[in-house]
Amino acid sequence: MSINFKELADKYQTPYYVYDFDYITNQYQELKTAFKARKSLIAYAVKANSNLSVIKHLASLGAGADCVSIGEVKRALKVGIAPYKIIFSGVGKIDSEIKEALELGILMINVESDAELQRVETIAKELDVVARISIRVNPNIDPKTHPYISTGLHENKFGVDIDTAKRMYIQCKNSDNLEPTGIHCHIGSQLTELQPIKESVQIIADLVRNLSALKIELSFIDVGGGLGIIYDDEKLIDTNEYAQAILETMFGLDITIVCEPGRFLVGNSGTFVTKVLYEKINGEKRFVIVDGAMNDLIRPALYNAYHKIEVLNDNKEFSDCNLVGPVCESGDFFAKNIELPQTQHNDLVAIYSAGAYCFTMASNYNTRGKVAEIAYENGEYRLIRKRETFEDIIALEEEFIK
Ligand code: LLP
Repeated sequence: MSINFKELADKYQTPYYVYDFDYITNQYQELKTAFKARKSLIAYAVKANSNLSVIKHLASLGAGADCVSIGEVKRALKVGIAPYKIIFSGVGKIDSEIKEALELGILMINVESDAELQRVETIAKELDVVARISIRVNPNIDPKTHPYISTGLHENKFGVDIDTAKRMYIQCKNSDNLEPTGIHCHIGSQLTELQPIKESVQIIADLVRNLSALKIELSFIDVGGGLGIIYDDEKLIDTNEYAQAILETMFGLDITIVCEPGRFLVGNSGTFVTKVLYEKINGEKRFVIVDGAMNDLIRPALYNAYHKIEVLNDNKEFSDCNLVGPVCESGDFFAKNIELPQTQHNDLVAIYSAGAYCFTMASNYNTRGKVAEIAYENGEYRLIRKRETFEDIIALEEEFIK
């Protein structure tokens, strides 16, 4: 049975996001099975879709969480992910976040600079605890993806080079408050080529061996996230080949593999459903205006990203148009120069591959409430986030009106 968008629109209004939880289950199982030859932890990159029900669903399958703020850490804990399955990453952790992460006893902190390591050590000393450290290595490998989501080159702000990482591990070893626990690399997102991943993991696996010679034994090798999905006609990395390539680099190492997929797990579970308000022609140009906008789903506006779009009517008369939202920006579009059928007021439009980096990147721009989120599981639907009301949007300002 497939999702009945019309029924959901009648019940919950539009726009809304709907996520197919069974699809998420399958993606998780596929990846977990691919790594079955080793101990592995799939730490879901919460930033991709941080709805509590989505995280809880992944938690129920055994997933851990890769978090980039203490807020994400708390989301993971809230739905029952054990602290020992939670990783805290990010180039700019705030002191209070480091303190809380240490107090919560999460698995490890992915440290991204020498300066950060000093902060973590100082805070760990103040708390009289030992901080489990993983260092994010920037392997200087071109992942061949969109520059905005490329992270593994020295020109990007992420991680540290190999020599710095080595020094930092030695510092951890010599500190009473730091414990070298893991190593991390993540070269980018929406990756469709295996070779750059293999090369970067090879680099960190070699460093693990090097460190072992210095009597620094790491327990976790975190190969990052980044597995691409099909938005259009991308050729994907085969999950088994991906796991195999990674496993081959680990020859002789007794170490647990961690990976941090976000998009792969949830991207194609989601659909954004919006409805047609009006059509108009400006000069030669046809515009279809819908009730969803860039504040709800910003990827086309921000990255010129492609999302497959379908108008859910039977009209066979297609013509070129721009599909746009009501927000006061020319950048408020879902697609430009796309062939769509003639539409009528209230026709539904489905925007696919909207499970990752869509709701999480939404805003209240133009005082538009964030839309409803719905889960679809075993043939049943349930609301997992209410549509925001005007009162929700102004709640934190109201009391200050003079
Ligand atoms: N680990 C780290 C350290 C990351 O920075 C990211 C994503 C992931 C894991 C998960 O990557 P994934 O498996 O989802 O590719 N907003 C952009 C994507 C930004 C990705 C940021 N980092 C988009 O809409 O395409």
